[in-house]
Formats: sequence, structure tokens, C-alpha cells
Amino acid sequence: MKGLVLAGPGQIEWREFEKPVASPGKALVKMKACSLNRRDEWIKEGKYPNIRYGGILGSDGSGVVEAVGDDKDKDWVGKEVVINPNVNWGPDPDVQSKSYSILGMPVNGTFAEYCLADTDRLQPKPFHLDIVHAAALPLGGLTAFRALFRQGGLKAGQNVLVSGFGGGVAQFCFLFAQAAGANVYVTSGSDTKIARALKLGAKGAYNYKKENNYSELWKTKGGFDLVIDSAGGDQINNFIKILKPCGKIVFYGATNGLPSKVDLYRMFWNHLTLQGTTMGNDHEFMEMLSFVGKHQIRPMVDSIRPFVKLPESFADILLPDKVGKIVFQI
Ligand SMILES: NC(=O)c1ccc[n+]([C@@H]2O[C@H](COP(=O)([O-])OP(=O)(O)OC[C@H]3O[C@@H](n4cnc5c(N)ncnc54)[C@H](OP(=O)(O)O)[C@@H]3O)[C@@H](O)[C@H]2O)c1
Repeated sequence: MKGLVLAGPGQIEWREFEKPVASPGKALVKMKACSLNRRDEWIKEGKYPNIRYGGILGSDGSGVVEAVGDDKDKDWVGKEVVINPNVNWGPDPDVQSKSYSILGMPVNGTFAEYCLADTDRLQPKPFHLDIVHAAALPLGGLTAFRALFRQGGLKAGQNVLVSGFGGGVAQFCFLFAQAAGANVYVTSGSDTKIARALKLGAKGAYNYKKENNYSELWKTKGGFDLVIDSAGGDQINNFIKILKPCGKIVFYGATNGLPSKVDLYRMFWNHLTLQGTTMGNDHEFMEMLSFVGKHQIRPMVDSIRPFVKLPESFADILLPDKVGKIVFQI
């Protein structure tokens, strides 16, 4: 079978592998779709811990179970599934264990014609989604779900700002927060994306490239209860300004690096929280899928491409006009 590997620093290539065989505790999934995350590009650039060369990349994927190693799991055979990308979250629901990793590095991932997954990683594909759109869900959906609900404590009627609307995870934050009945505002570096967010029901939107003092957003009724961010950098001080007392910034990335300063004065005076977050536990993965099913949420997919286009598409994750996920049909 064909699988996409990191062959060396900055170097990805197709390799031929033996088709895996289902063994006890494992299921052989015939992959039907996979999708790219910013993480895959970070790994290619060598900006990830525990890099190993020669393993199959990819955290997001969906497919059909072809075989299982244990008779007790035989009901999975023939089922359409999504794969939970958590590896060894561990016993503490609050935080991942020291041995935690994410499918696709260092453990073999989803960018292949087959994936040998632990049977307990399988979840039924949400009924309302086709198998291709389902592949957009796992990593981004899980990260957004924990960020909003567990870390952010989001409730209906609250004001939430999702920064960088065009991002793979941010789109889920937007969709989930709307489904939960929050008033959702966005920022983006693109007017086209802003127009799209407004069309999709954003209460307000702001181009972070055009102005950086957020004076308009500050006027949002009473301020924000919650800001969800993955860009980091100095704009965090703008978020601190626009939060209500007791508000929270939840962040799951720092694409633009560290802030040169943080307005701690305003933070302590207003009882603000700066909360980091990563992925989510296995229970949250199931909750996320059931939330997606209950609210009939359809992931925003930038494009659906043939599997062979995967290596050349890595660069497109950085395209300024991308909205949502790039998905590949296998
Ligand atoms: N901790 C975790 O578990 C976890 C999980 C997933 C991702 N991440 C991290 O989170 C980050 C985003 O991941 P992703 O997969 O969503 O990436 P992505 O699809 O590449 O999205 C990145 C988005 O960042 C936005 N952005 C860039 N500069 C910005 C700024 N100054 N202010 C606000 N937004 C800005 C852009 O939004 P616009 O195009 O709208 O301007 C862009 O679309 C990455 O650093 C990734 O490694 C962490």
C-alpha cells in the first residue's frame, strides 16, 4: 500500500508498505479520506517534538473497517468510521499523560491506503456527514470542543471572539459556538473570509491586518466573555482589553510566536484568565461527535482533492485565501 512519510528534514515522499494485518486489539481500516492540519506542515518543517523519519504522517482520517483482530470486535467490520487521533491520553481527564502523542507522529497515521488503528480509537462516522467531510473532523473538532466548552465554559448568550476565522480549528470554534447559542464574533486577515463569516451569521468581524487597536470590537455590548486564539503574539493584549471582567482567553497554538509583553496589570484587576489547551480526552472526542451529530454541523471544507495531490498540498495550508480544511479522497 501507498503511504506518505517524512523521509528527512523538509522532505515528504510516497513509500510502498506491506498491507497491514489486523491483530488483537487492532482494526484494519481501508482509508477513504484524510485531511491536512497545520501540525503536518510543522512536522515537515521539523518544528515538532519526537520527530521520526520513515513513519506514515496524518492525524485526520475516515474509512471503512475491513478486518479486526478480535472476534468480539467483529461488528465493526464494514462500518464507516472516523479515527480518534489521541494516542495514550491517559487516566486524567484534565490533562494528557507523559506518553501522549497524536496519530501520525511518531505513531503511523492516516495518510495511507490503510491504517492499522487500535480498535478503541474507532468511532462511527456521524450519520449526516459523508465519509469525505467526516475526515475533516477529528483533530480540529476535538481541539475546538475542549477549548470552547471545558476550558472556556461557554454558555448560550455569551459573547465569544474566535480569532483567525479561516483556520482549520477556528472554523470549528465558530460553528460549535454558534450551535451552542453564543454570540460569535470573528477576526481574520482577509476581507473575503470576513464577508463569509458575516454571511454565516457572525455578529461582527474584524480584519486584524488593517487595524490593531480593536476599538470597534471593544464596543461590543459589555465586552467578550471568551476569546479563542491560536495566533499568539502581541495581539493578546488587544484580547485582554476587550474581555469583560472575569473573561477568559483560551489558546491552543502560538503560530505567530510569543508576545513581547503581557498586560498583567489589566489581567489581575479584571480577574482575567489566560488558559492553554491541547486536543481533548477520549470522552470529549465522543462528546464532540455527538454534538456534531445533534446540531448537524458540516465542517467547512476548502477543497476536496485526489489523494495523489497530498504532498504538493502541504504548502497550501499556508494560503491566505484558504477557509477550513483541505480534504483528500483516497
Ligand atoms: N494544541 C493543540 O491541540 C492544537 C490543535 C490544533 C492546532 N494547533 C495549533 O493551532 C494553530 C492553528 O492550527 P490550524 O490547524 O487551525 O491552522 P491553519 O488552518 O493553518 O489556520 C491558521 C489560521 O491562523 C490565522 N492567523 C494567522 N495570523 C493571525 C493573527 N495575527 N491573528 C489571528 N489569526 C491569525 C489565519 O486566519 P485567517 O486566515 O482568518 O486570517 C489562519 O487561517 C497552529 O499553530 C497549530 O499548530 C494546536
